[in-house]
Amino acid sequence: MLAIIGGSGLTKLSNLDVSHREVARTPYGEPSGALTFGRICNAEVVFLARHGYGHAIPPHMVNYRANIWALKEYGATHIVSVASVGGIRDDLNPGDIVIPHQIIDYTWGRKSTYFDGNGTPVVHVDFTEPYDGELRRLLIQAAAEAGIAIKDGGVYGATQGPRLETAAEICRYEREGVDVVGMTGMPEAVLARELEIPYAAINLVANHAAGRGESTHGIRFERLEETLQEAMGRVRTVIERLVGCHTACCRD
Ligand code: HPA
Repeated sequence: MLAIIGGSGLTKLSNLDVSHREVARTPYGEPSGALTFGRICNAEVVFLARHGYGHAIPPHMVNYRANIWALKEYGATHIVSVASVGGIRDDLNPGDIVIPHQIIDYTWGRKSTYFDGNGTPVVHVDFTEPYDGELRRLLIQAAAEAGIAIKDGGVYGATQGPRLETAAEICRYEREGVDVVGMTGMPEAVLARELEIPYAAINLVANHAAGRGESTHGIRFERLEETLQEAMGRVRTVIERLVGCHTACCRD
């Protein structure tokens, strides 16, 4: 069963035919909210709003361990994470959709492993390719079939938030090879890897990163909201194609 984790701008899936909700408990505490089960194009999926249903949980306070654990516990075999980002790379503009292929983690102080010395042997997971190659490929194929333009590949820089970046920080990230910045991609991706759940992301460019393009003199939040509203329709279409309409992804 495919799990979809929705971020800012995707707190519910309007194309989800809801069957039931479950309030999960995990050894790591409570997930961001109830898990919402239902069907898209006849395929069973589970949805979780990363910031809670009232969008009250900031990126550094999300209980990522509980979220990923609960999804696995309730039968998720694949995870697609939807998250808004700021675009750094020159060809990225508000409204663009990126399927990132790499991550640089700038976050700190987050509980970022299940292997934290509580009596279990130390495990070092391989994270050379942080996103699942096959799930990325299916997402890219789904977008192509739906006639939705996406950018195949990008380096995601995970920043701590909740504040946005300074212009100088964005210049630094660019020098280090970052294409998009967001606040929630880590430790979500590595926790999925630790639990061996294939994980890929759909990044929606909500704004030019600080100091760039339309954000040269600051980030305009009204504009950002508009962009997210418009683009989420396209994200939903990609997910529809992925789960049921034309591919056999994630039906086990
Ligand atoms: N920076 C970090 N996270 C974000 C941004 C940004 O500019 N836009 C949306 N999420």
